[in-house]
Amino acid sequence: MLFYILLIALLQGSILAANTKKGADLYSRPSGSVANPFPTVIQEKYTGNGINFLVIGDWGQKGPGTGQLQVAAAMKTWADSNKTTFIINVGDSFYRTSNSNTTALDPNDHEGVLNETDPKWNTYWLDVYNGTLSEITWYTVAGNHDWYANVTAEVDYFWDINSRFFIPALYYVRQVTFSNNVIATFIHIDTDPFYYNYSTYTKNDDMKSNELNLNLYTTNQTDVILQWLEQQLINAQGSDWIFVVGHHPLVGDCALYNPSQYYLMYEFPPLLIKYKVSAYFNGHAHELAISVANNTSPVTYFGSGAGGATLGSGCANPTWTNGLSFGFLSINIPDKGDTLYYEFVDSNTTDTPPTIVYSGKINSRLLEMILSALVKKLSG
Ligand SMILES: *[C@@H]1O[C@H](CO)[C@@H](O)[C@H](O)[C@H]1NC(C)=O
Ligand SMILES: *[C@@H]1O[C@H](CO)[C@@H](O)[C@H](O)[C@H]1NC(C)=O
Ligand SMILES: *[C@@H]1O[C@H](CO)[C@@H](O)[C@H](O)[C@H]1NC(C)=O
Ligand SMILES: *[C@@H]1O[C@H](CO)[C@@H](O)[C@H](O)[C@H]1NC(C)=O
Ligand SMILES: *[C@@H]1O[C@H](CO)[C@@H](O)[C@H](O)[C@H]1NC(C)=O
Ligand SMILES: *[C@@H]1O[C@H](CO)[C@@H](O)[C@H](O)[C@H]1NC(C)=O
Ligand SMILES: *[C@@H]1O[C@H](CO)[C@@H](O)[C@H](O)[C@H]1NC(C)=O
Ligand SMILES: *[C@@H]1O[C@H](CO)[C@@H](O)[C@H](O)[C@H]1NC(C)=O
Ligand SMILES: *[C@@H]1O[C@H](CO)[C@@H](O)[C@H](O)[C@H]1NC(C)=O
Repeated sequence: MLFYILLIALLQGSILAANTKKGADLYSRPSGSVANPFPTVIQEKYTGNGINFLVIGDWGQKGPGTGQLQVAAAMKTWADSNKTTFIINVGDSFYRTSNSNTTALDPNDHEGVLNETDPKWNTYWLDVYNGTLSEITWYTVAGNHDWYANVTAEVDYFWDINSRFFIPALYYVRQVTFSNNVIATFIHIDTDPFYYNYSTYTKNDDMKSNELNLNLYTTNQTDVILQWLEQQLINAQGSDWIFVVGHHPLVGDCALYNPSQYYLMYEFPPLLIKYKVSAYFNGHAHELAISVANNTSPVTYFGSGAGGATLGSGCANPTWTNGLSFGFLSINIPDKGDTLYYEFVDSNTTDTPPTIVYSGKINSRLLEMILSALVKKLSG
């Protein structure tokens, strides 16, 4: 009897271990700061028909007016009926539950996480996105609420505890190959040091000390990151799709090209335009939003920051926004690889099924080049 109990315990242990690989089981951890871009391009290959991924941001908060649970339930329903390949997490993963007007609902009531064993890993993430979602990897960038506390601990958690919270460094690149050699390059960037000017930052949290300790507090330091980004964009020019993922928006009212307000954020769009990035994914503004490509910019800007934290801060000016409602974004690139279909999904209440509130499609970089060459030929 004891033998069987031990055997079962052993098997369960190995199943658990199989589901929770550490980053260190997959790659060797580079030495040095988490602010150094991950030194190699991470290769991922998916077999089957195309890829499906969800984009979620601004989610880890509990209490009145928050929507984490209903969005999680809708994502689960969605992932159950569509083969979700992975999740893109645009950051602000962990908030304080209380604000100045409410009392704490949680004994661990603080911004971000304090360390890699903070109970919030379970109570805000693992316990909430369960079922089908507990087998899917979350490709993560950090947001300001993560920087308000121990942002380094989020990278440590990946390496030491659970690689499904995928953030091997604050900056990293993935080359995703699927179907018949279709290539999508994802460049994950941390926009915080480009949004908050160290010299003028006055809030009483860890943003400033993190910028200082991570050596991301001068423009010479952010210039190095920008040069790295440009090199990654150059390297990715052969890709069918190039996606850049960051926390803060680059268009709309939350991103006026005004250095005194949004510091160095204005440096990004010219690079994204020059290297024909297919799309930029962001959160920060607690809404779903899209700014479609046009004659002067080939980039589609997707905002998905309605994952659960209290609503209220819109960033008007896009082609479309949902305003005050929780939800997420679903992206599907079918087998052929030349077209991307997007669906914004509203899930404001638990008792209604996930509802598609806005949808559309965009062409791959290759298809765009062919189409514009055709147009040139016809008009010339
Ligand atoms: C969605 O839920 C939030 C919080 O409960 C509420 O403030 C908002 O009005 C709701 N939006 C819609 C469109 O029902
Ligand atoms: C995903 O699943 C939902 C229902 O859960 C369905 O309405 C939707 O069309 C599916 N989307 C894709 C791309 O398969
Ligand atoms: C607290 O309540 C005041 C007055 O109702 C409101 O103006 C303020 O925005 C609230 N603060 C937060 C953080 O919710
Ligand atoms: C941040 O978290 C890491 C990993 O848990 C820990 O080693 C480090 O001491 C923490 N830093 C601070 C300032 O608490
Ligand atoms: C990690 O943070 C939690 C609070 O979230 C604290 O209770 C615990 O003591 C910390 N652990 C270490 C090793 O610092
Ligand atoms: C998943 O999490 C939700 C919300 O925390 C909970 O109500 C539900 O029972 C959980 N389901 C499973 C299968 O654990
Ligand atoms: C950052 O703030 C300092 C101090 O006010 C200012 O001198 C500097 O120009 C600012 N940097 C940018 C790029 O706006
Ligand atoms: C920053 O870069 C400028 C121009 O490259 C250089 O002149 C300056 O010495 C650098 N400052 C520091 C503190 O390294
Ligand atoms: C094109 O799109 C960009 C980014 O969304 C926007 O800033 C710009 O105003 C648009 N230009 C035109 C001519 O619509």
